Amino acid sequence: MEQELEKLRSDAAAELDQISSSGQLEDFRIKYLGRNGQLSGLMKLLGSVAKEDRPRLGKLANLVRGELEKFFSEKSAALLKQHDHSEKPDLSLPGRQRTNGRLHPVTQCMEEICSIFASMGFSIAEGPDIELDHYNFAALNIPEHHPARDMHDTFYIGNSVLLRTHTSPMQARIMEKQPPPIRVIAPGKVYRCDSDITHTPMFQQVEGFLVDRNISFADLKGVLTVSLQKIFEKDLEVRFRPSFFPFTEPSAEVDIACVICGGDGCRVCKKTGWIEILGSGMIDPEVFKMVGYDSEIYSGFAFGLGVERIAMLKYGIDDIRLYYENDLRFLSQF
Ligand code: FA5
Repeated sequence: MEQELEKLRSDAAAELDQISSSGQLEDFRIKYLGRNGQLSGLMKLLGSVAKEDRPRLGKLANLVRGELEKFFSEKSAALLKQHDHSEKPDLSLPGRQRTNGRLHPVTQCMEEICSIFASMGFSIAEGPDIELDHYNFAALNIPEHHPARDMHDTFYIGNSVLLRTHTSPMQARIMEKQPPPIRVIAPGKVYRCDSDITHTPMFQQVEGFLVDRNISFADLKGVLTVSLQKIFEKDLEVRFRPSFFPFTEPSAEVDIACVICGGDGCRVCKKTGWIEILGSGMIDPEVFKMVGYDSEIYSGFAFGLGVERIAMLKYGIDDIRLYYENDLRFLSQF
């Protein structure tokens, strides 16, 4: 019995070291010190040991009980202290840093472009991203089966509903409601199934159009040259290149000298030294006819700027997709 008491004492001491919660400590108490616990079990056997050994063993059993109770209360106090400590705030820890949010570089660029055109007397209008085939194509002189539809890599939603491929539908939407003179820009997101270092499937355009009496291509050139110089804050080399859009005639695409290579030729400008940033032209009389404007009296120009392309050139970014990878290390530089 003496050995069993010693074993119980050392088992209990070893078990106590592993205890880390008050639940485990309560299990320990029941196991060793409870009414039906191991110590009580041994004490019940005292009656059956030899009479002369009984006082010595009884004393040992009481000693073991005292020790187990001391283990128990010390552990209980230690657990309580540990718990208390975790509840209290550690005032010596440094505070949590507040980080400021900022506008996305393309949003910053878009806001600058809009305010430049607003300062030139253009009002701002917005239209839907989910557009009818009619406004995206037919009202812009691109009837069904017209080959120009292939240039647009359209995301269709239904037979006659799509994600707009450009902001030009806003020309038809506004002109059918408002008589000339008119001077509007329409900023917004557009979508095309397209992705490489100068193309993203979602990008932003700013449509602009001006209709009045006696508007000529010289007005188009003047407004675009001045506004691009304001956007890039320098005397830029701007190139008007003949092009084709079914809703403008004549049409021109506008390139600026590649700011990545300074015009020498690089992978961004595909070795040409120039980057295309907008499409433009004189509004086609067919478009005027569809919105009820008399093309004998009125003429006008329209343009569509690619905002990400402008932001690339303004900030010297050599891959347009970086704007939409949500890498804060990239975005927080602007
Ligand atoms: C158009 O979208 C015509 N609606 C522009 C227009 C408006 C012409 C009014 C005449 C009158 P284009 O497909 O070329 O044209 O696109 C215009 C500009 O958007 C391009 O010059 C380019 O800067 C930008 N762009 C085109 N596709 C992408 C793309 N996938 N990712 C980023 N930018 C693009």
